[in-house]
Parts: sequence; C-alpha cells; structure tokens
Amino acid sequence: MSPPVIAIDGPAASGKSSTAAAVAAALGYAHLDSGALYRGVTILALELGAPPEPEAILRSAEARGLTLHYDGRAFEVYLAGEPLGERLRTAEVTSAVSAVSALPAVREWINARLRGLVRPDRPVVLDGRDIGTAVFPDAPLKVFLTASPEVRARRRLQQRNEDASSARVEAEARILKARDEADSKRPTAPLRKAQDAHLLDTSDLTFEEQVGRIVAWAAHPGLPKIGG
Ligand code: DC
Repeated sequence: MSPPVIAIDGPAASGKSSTAAAVAAALGYAHLDSGALYRGVTILALELGAPPEPEAILRSAEARGLTLHYDGRAFEVYLAGEPLGERLRTAEVTSAVSAVSALPAVREWINARLRGLVRPDRPVVLDGRDIGTAVFPDAPLKVFLTASPEVRARRRLQQRNEDASSARVEAEARILKARDEADSKRPTAPLRKAQDAHLLDTSDLTFEEQVGRIVAWAAHPGLPKIGG
C-alpha cells in the first residue's frame, strides 16, 4: 500500500510551505514542513561551531530532544520540549542550512523521522526538496512547485513587508538562485522534479489557484478522503 502522503517539492521561496498548509487544511490532512527540521538541525550545528561534524550534530539532536510534535494541524519542531518557532527562520540559519542539509548522515536521520511519522490513519502533506524523489518515492501524489526567481524574490520581500524595488528584487533573486544551485548540485538527494510529479509553475497563478489545482489532483484512489 502506498503511504498517504502528498509530496510537495520545489526551490526556495516557491511557496511550498504556505501552499502545503492550505492544501492540508482543505483536505483535513496534517502538514509537515521538512525544511523546518533541517533548520532545527542547523541551529544545533551552529551552536557546535564550524565545520559541521555530522555525528556530533546528530548526537546533540538526540541528547537535546530535537523532535517534531503534532498539534492536531501541523508538525512543529521542538527542542528540549519548547517550540523553536521563529528561531528557525533567522538569516544565520537560512545561510547555513544548505551546507548542513548536504550532509548524508543528517539526511538519513531526518528521513527516518519523517517516515516514522506517517501512519495510515494520519495522511500528511509533506513539503521539502526530495520528498517525491527520495523520502516517499511511492507517494500517490507528487507536485513540483516552482516560479521564476524574480517572482519568488518579490513574493518573499512582500511577505516580509520589505521594500520590493527592482534593485532589491534582483539582489534577493540572486540569493535564491545561489541556494537553489547549492540544493540542486549536492550529490545526495539533490533538488529535482520526480519524473512522475506534476509540475506547477505558479508565476502567473494566484495562491487560491495553486492550492485549488493540488486539491483537485488529490482526488486519487491512493489518498484518503477526510475533508477539512
Ligand atoms: O524550505 P526551507 O527553505 O525551509 O528549507 C531549508 C533548507 O533545507 C533548504 O536549503 C534545503 C534543505 N531541505 C532539504 O535539503 N530537503 C528537504 N526535504 C527540505 C529542506
């Protein structure tokens, strides 16, 4: 039996997490943002200092209780019993996370946790970079969400209520392209579209339209109907 998983992969700032959360709410599924767990591991790697040594990072993750907690709607990343919340999204974590997520031992540790959370009675919308290619290659529905770097940069700046002048958009697009390149060129589970994933370019779609497309694709015999 295939796992009750909708896999949403795509580059940085493609809107995966907000789209995945809205799809999960519409279908009554749980939402799991795998990037948040990579960010949690990165916080521990930064505390240990560079260069990151995978065994030490993972020992710290186990010892300090880096876990995912289900709150009835989504999985949140906790450290020592406390949610990491906005600490996951600092500029320091964002600039270090690609290097930490390129470590094969870190990927294996995270994948084991992600796979352990999916149960037949708790379908999940799971977003990341390699969910459809490596973590759940047999997911019944896979989506590769993308948009041009400029559209993603503008959306990101607007989301943060920052100046979205063309110079700022260009600068932000350059940062996004560099992270996409690092994620796409790493040897282990690089960012790429699974052959059987639906390609969804959202450059010219509204948020409601992109969520609606995925919800329509979810009418699949391998996915349970729960209703939001
Ligand atoms: O989606 P995000 O920006 O929060 O992801 C943070 C980083 O984690 C991103 O640079 C790539 C990595 N990541 C990954 O390698 N595999 C995943 N399944 C999810 C995220």
